Amino acid sequence: MLKKFLPKTLFLRYFLIILTPIIILQILLSVVFFDSLWIKTNKGLVNSLTDEINTVISFYNRKKSDVEFENVRSLISTNSSFQIILKKNSTLPKDNNYQKFSFYDRLINEQLKEKVKMQYWFNTRSDKDNVEIQVKVKNDILSFIVPKSRIRNSSGRIFILWITVPGIILLLISVLFLRNQIRPITNLALSAEKFGKGQYVAPNKPSGPIEIRKATIEFEKMKARILRHISQRTTMLSGISHDLKTPLTRLKLQIEILNKDRKLDGIKEDINEMEKMISEYLDYSNSESNTENTKFNLNKLLVEVVKKFNNDKINLKSEDNLQMVGKKHLLRRCFSNLIDNGTKYAENISITAYKNNRQLEILFDDDGPGIPESEHERVMRPFYKLDKSRNLKDGSVGLGLSIVQDIINSHGGKVMLENKKKGLRVKLQFPN
Ligand SMILES: Nc1ncnc2c1ncn2[C@@H]1O[C@H](COP(=O)(O)OP(=O)(O)OP(=O)(O)O)[C@@H](O)[C@H]1O
Ligand SMILES: [Mg+2]
Repeated sequence: MLKKFLPKTLFLRYFLIILTPIIILQILLSVVFFDSLWIKTNKGLVNSLTDEINTVISFYNRKKSDVEFENVRSLISTNSSFQIILKKNSTLPKDNNYQKFSFYDRLINEQLKEKVKMQYWFNTRSDKDNVEIQVKVKNDILSFIVPKSRIRNSSGRIFILWITVPGIILLLISVLFLRNQIRPITNLALSAEKFGKGQYVAPNKPSGPIEIRKATIEFEKMKARILRHISQRTTMLSGISHDLKTPLTRLKLQIEILNKDRKLDGIKEDINEMEKMISEYLDYSNSESNTENTKFNLNKLLVEVVKKFNNDKINLKSEDNLQMVGKKHLLRRCFSNLIDNGTKYAENISITAYKNNRQLEILFDDDGPGIPESEHERVMRPFYKLDKSRNLKDGSVGLGLSIVQDIINSHGGKVMLENKKKGLRVKLQFPN
């Protein structure tokens, strides 16, 4: 259940691990601060004010003359932080501005109710800086104008500032560190993914914590071992293929001599096919070894390949200035193989090349029988042909698509086969 809501990437998970305790700590500190310090201080301030109000009221009740009270009133007004106004024969205002959800209103109301046992009225909103409290004493009204700073502890805002700003700064610092710590493992994962797809991977420099360094070093060792293995196997296969050519030629010659009554035509055909397989393989392994990336115009290359086929049933649609970085001669071979398949297994071929903001795509559409979905994976294997008897005569060996896949993979791209209503679509996708 919880797993569903957890972030998927390592970075976000680590970030959550850092963020959660910071937030919990801040909430705890805030609760403790507001409950034990801020509320209590504010209560104390309002409490002392009501005490003073009470003193004034009791003096007013006991005064001998108005002059005497006036003297005291002006004395308090000049020496104390609040003002007293006496409104003779007056009543309390009718409107009640008391707001239940305001912390201050509630606090003042509670204290006045508890301490001043008379009718009262107060307003915290009409004046920005002062609170007005009126108390009815007999027929008169005593109005107290109290500065808000007298009863309000402003440290709450400062506290919030102090607790959130460093929190945010700490988080930003940890995000910076975190990104640096996560980068090596992200790079390693990307390299492993690319290598798994048979694409070229630049060597990774070990960095980050010791465990990740170790994993990177081991990955590089494994990569080198696999590459060495592949290269040894390719060299060995090339060697064998090359050496096989001589006895095959000898066999061919001997058959020519013995094949007077054409009884050995079958064997001759088999030998021809073997020869073709070998030369196809040698051709490919030779071209693969001397490879370097260059920037070239893809449209020009496609036009060049199409031209070689000299077939007016091949239709090419491509932007004029389509730039691509890659191994030109390998890609030429790859496009050639696909067009060759189109001409062999279908009639009309349409080639479309375009670039969108994320990738470069080349589509090879034909109107042939297509390839059943279940065979899509298998036709990519070397020497695999769908209809073995059909292909025997035209000299197909079944290497075409596997070479295409190898070449596209080495460019970091993807080959996708799709069946249309009629015909096959081979989609080549390159990261842009
Ligand atoms: N455009 C296509 N339409 C229908 N079937 C196809 C098409 N392209 C390939 N195939 C099938 O996939 C098989 C494998 O193709 P691939 O190009 O690897 O080999 P091939 O064409 O038989 O031989 P090669 O290309 O080595 O001369 C083919 O034998 C063919 O049956
Ligand atoms: Mg082919």
